[in-house]
Amino acid sequence: MGDFTEIEKEIFYKIIFSRRDVRRNFIKKKISNEVLLRILTAAHHAPSVGYSQPWNFILIRDKKSRLDIKESFSKERLKSIELLEIDEERKRKYLDLKLEGILESNLNICVTYDHKRFGPFVIGRMTIKEAGIYSVCCAIQNLWLAARAENIGVGWVSIISNNDLKRILKLPPTIKPIAYLCLGYVKNFEIEPDLQTVNWLSRLNLDKVINYEQWNGNNRNTQWKGFNQHLNRTNTSA
Ligand SMILES: Cc1cc2nc3c(=O)[nH]c(=O)nc-3n(C[C@H](O)[C@H](O)[C@H](O)COP(=O)(O)O)c2cc1C
Repeated sequence: MGDFTEIEKEIFYKIIFSRRDVRRNFIKKKISNEVLLRILTAAHHAPSVGYSQPWNFILIRDKKSRLDIKESFSKERLKSIELLEIDEERKRKYLDLKLEGILESNLNICVTYDHKRFGPFVIGRMTIKEAGIYSVCCAIQNLWLAARAENIGVGWVSIISNNDLKRILKLPPTIKPIAYLCLGYVKNFEIEPDLQTVNWLSRLNLDKVINYEQWNGNNRNTQWKGFNQHLNRTNTSA
């Protein structure tokens, strides 16, 4: 396959930067079978450790399952603030956040991990067994970006008990839920993350998360000077 053109590159980055975690403003429009198939095919083309493809995508439209899952969310959400010792204002802010679109979205997808697939010997998974779960996360990111390219919002809901998911979705004991996703067309995509808009957290400058050669490596190393100067001249938090 040949090189990508400048326009293709621009579009690729545009999709990355305009992807959002979406929990509200879903509209009634249904995701067509063709579009859903394209999104799932993109997810299925993710890299995976030893080519083990350890994912499954459970497609959920059933109202009853969704109500049960929403109930698990509501329970876990309250539990999570009881566990944390945070000040009252932050608690109030947390309770005001919209953190899921389980019922309003067109489709829910539970992405799972099957550690038995093509196992027990999976190339590259013997030393770091979490590599299987990392692979599922790669599939989720592909799905998220493909959905954005299709103008479909995706919200990842992690405030759900895995035990509840296992029971409601009748998962076999060896299958682990990794992500619960809510998908649907939306009125609009926000420009910045919701958690940034409400001043919960903001994006770190890129230079805060780049280390040179070693954890405490500094940029005085001549090899990295040029890159570092370029980094400092560029606004990387936008
Ligand atoms: C593993 C994972 C779990 C998440 N769980 C939740 C969640 O339970 N509820 C929620 O509203 N957002 C959840 N998010 C979305 C993040 O809050 C969101 O990605 C982050 O605030 C940055 O916003 P952006 O995705 O719009 O760039 C999750 C994201 C990831 C990667």
